[in-house]
Amino acid sequence: MPDFDFRALRRFPDVEAPNLQAWDATDELLVRWALDSGIPGDEVAVIGDEYGAITLALADAGISGIRVHQDLVTGRRALARNATALGISGWASHDLGAELLAGARLVLLQLPKALAELEEIADAVARSAAPDVTLVAGGRVKHMTLAQNEVLARRFGVVQPQRAERKSRLVVASEPLAVPADPPFPVRQVHDGLTLCAFGGAFAGARIDIGTRVLLNAMEGLSVPVVHPNVIDLGCGTGALAAAFALRHPDAVVIATDRSASAVRSAEATMRANGIEGRVQVTLDDAGSELPDASADLVLLNPPFHLGASVHEGAGQRLIQAAARLLKPGGEVWTVFNSHLDHRRALSREVGATEQVVRTPKFTVTRSIRRG
Ligand SMILES: C[S@@+](CC[C@H](N)C(=O)[O-])C[C@H]1O[C@@H](n2cnc3c(N)ncnc32)[C@H](O)[C@@H]1O
Repeated sequence: MPDFDFRALRRFPDVEAPNLQAWDATDELLVRWALDSGIPGDEVAVIGDEYGAITLALADAGISGIRVHQDLVTGRRALARNATALGISGWASHDLGAELLAGARLVLLQLPKALAELEEIADAVARSAAPDVTLVAGGRVKHMTLAQNEVLARRFGVVQPQRAERKSRLVVASEPLAVPADPPFPVRQVHDGLTLCAFGGAFAGARIDIGTRVLLNAMEGLSVPVVHPNVIDLGCGTGALAAAFALRHPDAVVIATDRSASAVRSAEATMRANGIEGRVQVTLDDAGSELPDASADLVLLNPPFHLGASVHEGAGQRLIQAAARLLKPGGEVWTVFNSHLDHRRALSREVGATEQVVRTPKFTVTRSIRRG
């Protein structure tokens, strides 16, 4: 193992806290596998490298030309910042697809949480990588399931779990199988006139999540007292909230934004499927950081309550702070959250006066008015 100092890595601009690390033992196992394999960097692809630990450790060991895919823009920005801070270069970032994978003989993967995302990645590797590719997928044992092996086995003839080490485990998949002519994603589902499209990594797939449904129902009583209101769907996922609002309010100028590339591609497909691609702009961004302050009349918010595999209120609070920044004085944010979370207090503090619109046994919808 090279003497790369993983502790020098930071998660920034993602949420940082004493109990959240920028790397784990799985990263170290994947790095060691790649170094032991002797496969040159231009035949190596890395997928799901959260904050750049795998890429930077390999580049630091002199393996250059690695291709990297990270779904989250926060991870992409963290990798770039970590690289600059450590003075390391020599890899290229790509979307999930042929550019990332063509000719790759070793693919290192931090296992994603969602099986659909794993299915999409396994399909892409079997479809586009070299015929003798080995996919080495790793995760924390407590988060791994047999279903992950089954997903891999649908695209690879051989799937071999390795012995666990330091609470992490690698699963090695080889001998890619023939793939169907069409990739399995995006999937689509029609809900009362609203079509949702989803790539593998998008929240809730093409379904409407229960919390989203509660907010969508509450939004039927929502009217914005300005013409051509500027509306932001912050953390848009497949774009359900933005699309529903745009369909009901043809004069609105809507932006749907998410930090996940998979979500952004899904929301773009959703807007096309509903014929509103010209009216809803979809952007890949971290908490709307590229949108101007005080520019929105309305923010629609269904914040996350997970950061990766851990439940952390910081994830939602970041988007609440962003909503406060993005709203014009007097503008409103409508938020849905799990009723046990203390978001109402954060909304009152960061945004302004907050009232409950509806409460179901599990979810609460609030309306907060941006103080002047
Ligand atoms: C609970 S889902 C809601 C998705 C969608 N709005 C809905 O209601 O179905 C939360 C979404 O927030 C996104 N998200 C989390 N942190 C973010 C950040 N810092 N910037 C932008 N999007 C973020 C996630 O990728 C995810 O798509």
